[in-house]
Amino acid sequence: MKVLVIGGGGREHALAWRLHHSPSVTKVYATPGNPGIAKIAQCETATDYVQLAEQLHVDLTVVGPEVPLVAGVVDQFRLRKLPIVGPTAANAALEGSKIHSKRFMEAHGIPTARFHTAATPAEATEALRAFRFPVVLKTDGLAAGKGVVIAQTPAEAADAIETLPCPLVIEEFLEGEEVSFIALCDGHRALALEPSQDHKRIFDNDEGPNTGGMGAYSDSAILTETQRSHILETIVNPVIHATGFTGFLYAGLMMTPSGPSVLEFNVRMGDPETQPLMLRLLSDWGETLMAAAKGALPSSIQWSPQPATCVVLASAGYPGANQTGQAIHLPEATPDGTTIFHAGTKRQGDHLVTAGGRVLGVTALGNTLPESIDNAYAAVAQIRFEGMQYRRDIGKKGLKRYNTV
Ligand code: AMP
Ligand code: GLY
Repeated sequence: MKVLVIGGGGREHALAWRLHHSPSVTKVYATPGNPGIAKIAQCETATDYVQLAEQLHVDLTVVGPEVPLVAGVVDQFRLRKLPIVGPTAANAALEGSKIHSKRFMEAHGIPTARFHTAATPAEATEALRAFRFPVVLKTDGLAAGKGVVIAQTPAEAADAIETLPCPLVIEEFLEGEEVSFIALCDGHRALALEPSQDHKRIFDNDEGPNTGGMGAYSDSAILTETQRSHILETIVNPVIHATGFTGFLYAGLMMTPSGPSVLEFNVRMGDPETQPLMLRLLSDWGETLMAAAKGALPSSIQWSPQPATCVVLASAGYPGANQTGQAIHLPEATPDGTTIFHAGTKRQGDHLVTAGGRVLGVTALGNTLPESIDNAYAAVAQIRFEGMQYRRDIGKKGLKRYNTV
């Protein structure tokens, strides 16, 4: 079959790469794609995705980013009976509006932090009285990871109220470990992918501002079977039953002492979580996605027991205004089990140059989590561009599971 991937970041490179290695897939297209994707897929520029899918006679389309989903790309494909993996615009509102998402969780008994909503700054100031510090303030709409402030003091909360666009969600601060739990849904049933953890802050030890994600690892040991079933029953299945959800439902969870609680829903795979997940996946991804699009998901898929780690290499200045156009030096080859996924890169003549905040996602398998971390950083050591910044501690929070023998 021929498959079209919508998007052009690291997540989409990983999706296209896994599809390229799927026995059922004869050709991969991507729009807009990127120079890394162009090595394994045909990249096309398009504004009308339906027209492109029809022109290319693709059998299946998979959507990477949230923006086209919220804009209704899945609804448009369904009108033309074109198979696609993703949620309808109505269901994408679980990510597109935090107020909708919180109210939905409240209505369906899905565990989430206690919250108030505020339509104006004055209402927000009033709502604060119902919370202790730290308190969390979130803008309602899509904000690419920049719409959340954790205020430690009343002064910080007042600042946040001034800068975040209204309406706002104000919610209780939760403590615990964060887990990315992603399930592929076919409208009736969910297939949980392996668990992963993101590293959202720019600096080591989770310091500095939030980013789109500076690295991620996936390791079976993150969640027990019992925890996975519990999350499916209390969080994912209620969404599917209430909405007929299709596509990827990503629950950003806080594992609190009283159980998993939803920090946010996303309606797509995570970036950079997808990169280690695609390295670990053994099943035919094309077949699995087609089954999801047809409402007939298999009950399980195969994963490598090996953990995988992805280290993001970012441009100087990221997540603020960043410098682009720097020449990128890559190794000629990478060892088996290591893949360099492109995110913000571009061809300039014969050169590969930086073209965004997050530039590359260096991803590696290993027999153990420490080995996968070492393998990823060994490849990082062979890559150079001016101003390159990255975290040195990706995956380290998972190591505690290896020290409990
Ligand atoms: P969100 O976009 O809602 O996932 O928020 C971004 C990040 O802010 C999350 O990954 C958490 O690290 C943090 N965060 C969000 N909500 C809370 C909360 N209620 N308690 C503690 N941390 C939170
Ligand atoms: N890695 C977090 C996200 O994709 O939203």
